[in-house]
This record gives sequence, structure tokens and C-alpha cells, in this order.
Amino acid sequence: MNTIGFAMRLTLFGSSHGPGVGSVLDGCPSGVPITTETIQREVDLRKPAPGIGTARAEEDIVQVQSGILEGRTTGAPIQFFIANKDSDSSKYQAFRVTPRPGHADYPALVKYGPDHDMRGGGQFSGRMTAPLVAAGAVAKSMLVTKGVRIAAYSQSIGKVTDDKERSFSEISENRFNHSTRAADSRVAARMEREILAAAKDGDSVGGIVRCLVDGLPVGVGEPFFDSLDAELAKMMFAIPAVKGVDFGAGFRSTKMRGSEHNDPFKIVNGQVTTVTNHAGGILGGLSDGMPLDLRVAFKPTASIAKEQWTVDLKRKKDTIIKVQGRHDPCIVPRAVVVVEAAAALVIADLSLRGGFFAR
Ligand SMILES: Cc1cc2nc3c(=O)[nH]c(=O)nc-3n(C[C@H](O)[C@H](O)[C@H](O)COP(=O)(O)O)c2cc1C
Repeated sequence: MNTIGFAMRLTLFGSSHGPGVGSVLDGCPSGVPITTETIQREVDLRKPAPGIGTARAEEDIVQVQSGILEGRTTGAPIQFFIANKDSDSSKYQAFRVTPRPGHADYPALVKYGPDHDMRGGGQFSGRMTAPLVAAGAVAKSMLVTKGVRIAAYSQSIGKVTDDKERSFSEISENRFNHSTRAADSRVAARMEREILAAAKDGDSVGGIVRCLVDGLPVGVGEPFFDSLDAELAKMMFAIPAVKGVDFGAGFRSTKMRGSEHNDPFKIVNGQVTTVTNHAGGILGGLSDGMPLDLRVAFKPTASIAKEQWTVDLKRKKDTIIKVQGRHDPCIVPRAVVVVEAAAALVIADLSLRGGFFAR
């Protein structure tokens, strides 16, 4: 389904090569300060970067069709529309017969049959994240009014990993200064080389987006099934190409003893804090007052220029495919703002449910 959220619901619509893509954000309170310029700026951050992205960047102009007036939300459903331009669908028809390995073509053809909209990946296109980012800009603004801020960055791309512990302010100040969305310029240069090397081979690389949320009050989350981590994981896994989500020490926790993993509580300036943050800011599905720390793993882009084995579905034979068209050799940099928006939407929804925005 294309709707997510409970108190604040996001619906996505449209398709990659149809008239456009859009979203409806329902349940946002009135009076949230947000301008079209801010929304446009966020959506622009999703564009492919020159040099390391697709040759020609899409021009995504966001139209705010309802719900925002004179720089504030009105309380009515907020509708965004982004017209598709420049779409060349001709290269996609071949995938009906020879599906791309790693993409949604094959299961979608089996499920939806010949009516499936194959153009640009149809509903499976990463383009569906553009209106998600637009809606996320509103959720971010809403959270900022309560002192909750979100910043993500590329923690790894291919074999290049930024293993330094980065502060929230370092990430939020630096991430958008680099086209790779790294938090540090030296790491950014290495990541850029990694992407260019893959592109030169007609190949692609994946990576990890780490996202921190600062200022979250204690108690956001609705256990059992709508716990903070469960809701975030669901949202993150909905982003195309996501293959893993973990929080805090995540999978590393399994190698630790309890004495090592438990985050000792400590009073600092009269506030309850923890000395470490292996829990990633979540205990029992509720925010615990420490920064939320989540990591989202993206696979390498499926559509690569290199020849690959696939099948000819008509002839029932193995064959070779060479994917053409505009594809990023690495989608991780573009996904950074998407992960931020996705996190903001979940946290805004759960904050409304928990009464954190009660007047
Ligand atoms: C921002 C963004 C851009 C993407 N661009 C491409 C692309 O250019 N080529 C491609 O093959 N996949 C791209 N993807 C990923 C595919 O949409 C995704 O791999 C595909 O729908 C199959 O879904 P799955 O990887 O979740 O199994 C992109 C994903 C995102 C989030």
C-alpha cells in the first residue's frame, strides 16, 4: 500500500514516467512554519550530484497544492506534486522480456502481468522518494519547533568507511557540503573515488547512511507493534534499495556481554543520561532521551552498464543484458536526505500519537 502513519499519514502517488509524482500529508497540525523554498531546498538535496550521479540531473519543481498558506501549515491535508520531465521510457520496454537482475521487474511482471507500468521502474522507482522528501520537510519543521533535529550522512560507500565517531553538529554542518554527503572532506574525497571507480567499470556500489536525531524527549513510541524502532524500520525498509536497518550497536550487540552493552545511567546537569549509547536511543521501543542513532544499508544500484546474465521470458532461455539509460553508480548520497525525511515523518507521527504536540 502507499500510505504510512497513523496520526499523521503520508500517501505517495504517481509513477516515474507518468505525468508526475506526489504526496499527501494528512494530520499535520496547523501553524507549523514552512515555506515552499525550504521544501524545494530539501528536494534539491536528493538530486544526483554532478560528476558522481546521472549525467543529467532531473529538475524537480515542487508544487504545493494545498495545506500551506503564507509560510504556515493550515491544518488541511498538504498536497505536493512534482511533474516528470525529460523521461525517456523507450529503454524500459525491453525489461518486460529480459528483466534486470536486482531490480523489481521480474516479480512485478509476475504479480501485475502485462499491465505493469515498466516505464522508469514505475511505482518501484527511487523517484517516488522525491515527494516523500517534500513531506519530510514539513515533518522536520514540525519537530524543530520542539527542539528535535535530524541529520544523516554517508557513513560508508563501497569499501570506504568513515569509522570516526561524529558529533551531531559536525554531521549537520558538513553533510551537504560534499556531493557524497560525507561528514568529512577527506572521507568525501575517498568516497568520490570509490564511486568513480565503480562507474568506470560500468558497475555500482552501495553503502550505509547513518542518521542521528537530537533532542528527542523520553517516551516517543507506541509499543508493542508501533514501537519507535519498529516504525522506523518499516519506513526505512520501504525506501527502495534498503537491505538493512540497525540501531546503536545493532548487530554488534550480539558479540558483546551485557556488562559491556548496557548503557550505564548517569546524572549530568541534573538530567538522566547514559554514559554510552549502545541502545541507539531506544529502550523498550521508547525513546530514552539519548540521541537516536540508526543506520540504513543500501545495496549497490541494480541497473548497471556492465553485461549481466538474465533470462528471456518469451523464449525461456538464458541471455545477456546490458542496461541502458540514466542510472546512478551509487544512490547512497541521494538517499541521505531521504532517510532524514523518512525518520522525521515517523517521529512526527509517533510524537503526535504520544501527545507531545498537544496544545
Ligand atoms: C533515491 C533513489 C534513487 C534510485 N535510483 C536508481 C537507479 O537509478 N537505478 C536503479 O536500478 N535503482 C535505483 N534505485 C533503487 C531501485 O528503485 C530499487 O533497487 C528497486 O526498486 C528494487 O527494489 P529493492 O532494491 O528494494 O529490492 C534508487 C533508489 C533510491 C532510494
